[in-house]
Amino acid sequence: MAGSRQEEDRTLTDRTVSPKPHDEDKSFDLSLRPKRLAEYIGQERLKDNLGIFVAAAKARGEALDHLLLYGPPGLGKTTMATVVANEVGVQLRITSGPAILIPGELASILTSLQKGDILFIDEIHRLSRIVEETLYPAMEDFALDMMLGKGMAAKPIRLRLPRFTVIGATTRYALLSSPLRDRFGATYRLDYYDQQALEQIVVRSARILGVTIDREGTAEIARRARGTPRLANRLLKRVRDYAQVRGNGAISREVADEALRLLDIDQSGLDEIDRRVLRTIIEKFDGGPVGIATIAAAISEEVDTIEEVYEPYLLQLGFLDRTPRGRVATRRAYEHLRLPTPPISPVEAEQPRLFD
Ligand code: ADE
Repeated sequence: MAGSRQEEDRTLTDRTVSPKPHDEDKSFDLSLRPKRLAEYIGQERLKDNLGIFVAAAKARGEALDHLLLYGPPGLGKTTMATVVANEVGVQLRITSGPAILIPGELASILTSLQKGDILFIDEIHRLSRIVEETLYPAMEDFALDMMLGKGMAAKPIRLRLPRFTVIGATTRYALLSSPLRDRFGATYRLDYYDQQALEQIVVRSARILGVTIDREGTAEIARRARGTPRLANRLLKRVRDYAQVRGNGAISREVADEALRLLDIDQSGLDEIDRRVLRTIIEKFDGGPVGIATIAAAISEEVDTIEEVYEPYLLQLGFLDRTPRGRVATRRAYEHLRLPTPPISPVEAEQPRLFD
């Protein structure tokens, strides 16, 4: 069983298809990340809304309302915050829930902000309760309530802050407390990217990197990128290495296919761990329903990791179903793994779905 959160993050990021950032992504992504809304591919509804949001705030000369972005990892929440800051023409401060340990650290960040600046808080669901409570008046009244001095002599003081904007990001919307949710003026969900958007991202990234790639090579990488730009860019890089070493540097469908097969990433973008999740449900638990904690124990993973990282894409592909009694492997999962499909019992067919 993976132990600490850090340990868990390390195992996760070791996977080529992990949507969590790898260290190498950081510099690599920087050159590939769009800087303006017009360059940002996909998330059309979000872009339309943000375009209006930004233009209206700029026209009034006001700071943007606080904004909450949620959705699976790797879909561009941080990138979008950078884009919004560039569009508004203000500074962006980037931090994360687990990085702010005590209210004093939050206070120090907040007092360094200038009017209109954007504070991006990634993994905002991981803020400690006490830090979160310091954030409330800061977001609502642009004020920081602190105690001056200690013990009997301590006095509460209220510091004024400039009007600023919080952009919060989370992969786990349900874990956000309702007082925190209520403090955001707008909340948007980022969705997985479709094939066409991912292809455009691969083409754009290949151009920036100076890699030759044809249409079929592009389509192959996009198809196996789990709807996630971060992965599309990472796979492009891996395939580029393969093309350089085993071929003439150019990426065709065959080259992409061979490179990805070597990485054990299948036609749907699943890796060994995804397939283990499905195979465990099918082979150990008769296809389910089985509880998430039982699956986690069977494959020695954290429940959180399964819910945050593996499950969303398996649900999206329709390989997994959530029912009130637990997770169920779908017919499609059996077919994908080339396992004999069981007959559907009338009870299963009637099973109500918890989430659609
Ligand atoms: N690179 C990573 N994500 C991107 C996006 N959404 N649009 C353009 N390039 C990207």
